[in-house]
Amino acid sequence: MKLYIIGAGPGDPDLITVKGLRILQEADVVLYTDSLVNDELIARAKPEAEVLKSAGMSLEEMVAIMADRVKAGKLVARVHTGDPAVFGAIMEQKALLAKEGIACEIVPGVSSVFAAAAAVGAELTIPELTQTVILTRAEGRTPVPDREQLKDLAAHHCTLALFLSATLTKKVVRELTEAGWSPETPVAVVQRASWPDQIIVRTTLARLDEDMRVNGIRKHAMILAGWALDPEIGTHEEYRSKLYDKSFTHGYRKGVKD
Ligand SMILES: C[S@@+](CC[C@H](N)C(=O)[O-])C[C@H]1O[C@@H](n2cnc3c(N)ncnc32)[C@H](O)[C@@H]1O
Repeated sequence: MKLYIIGAGPGDPDLITVKGLRILQEADVVLYTDSLVNDELIARAKPEAEVLKSAGMSLEEMVAIMADRVKAGKLVARVHTGDPAVFGAIMEQKALLAKEGIACEIVPGVSSVFAAAAAVGAELTIPELTQTVILTRAEGRTPVPDREQLKDLAAHHCTLALFLSATLTKKVVRELTEAGWSPETPVAVVQRASWPDQIIVRTTLARLDEDMRVNGIRKHAMILAGWALDPEIGTHEEYRSKLYDKSFTHGYRKGVKD
């Protein structure tokens, strides 16, 4: 017995995987996170499918419904926003389903971090500048382990992608500044990436908090921070990828000598 946990992607109904869409279209039962998954995508389920919203349901209620339907021989799709592996709260569902003898197959999705990067036309890993992206959140009511405090993560001066942090920008600015980030560090905020009402705010660390306030952004936002977000980064020759470097040889491409 198994059910499918599907990543719906960030919002645009076309940003689900082919596999995820196929399962959604074949499913007898669809349970979805209605606050962030696009209804237009869910409308692609077959007309006779039982479609349920997870908002307002407790974990136990969700699991009871899913287990009941799977045991009745139905194809069940649990649809999560973005990619289920990132802040998806799937582990507790999987654990309770396992107690019912039900396994889960996870179908990945496009996370909002990548939809946001696409929206601002950014590469998050710029050769010689940063080769690391940290996906994290600022600590608010949900605790973050001591060893993962933002100021410690920021000490790497890599690209940071902050989920669930739109109301915590004062703290973000304070901790990144403590880690030695310059006030001019580029920051790109994308609210509702890939939705028709997507908002992009390009700012700096110094102006982040004020620009969030001015633009009324308090939720559904991805904060991307670091010099990889500099819109001019592509014009800096020193940060060109080795992949296209004429003198660089790798397995598939022999170096060309001028
Ligand atoms: C519970 S987490 C789920 C993340 C999701 N699993 C993913 O991979 O994108 C919700 C947070 O993800 C971010 N998020 C989700 N969808 C977004 C979108 N379309 N645009 C910007 N940020 C989004 C926001 O930071 C939001 O607070």
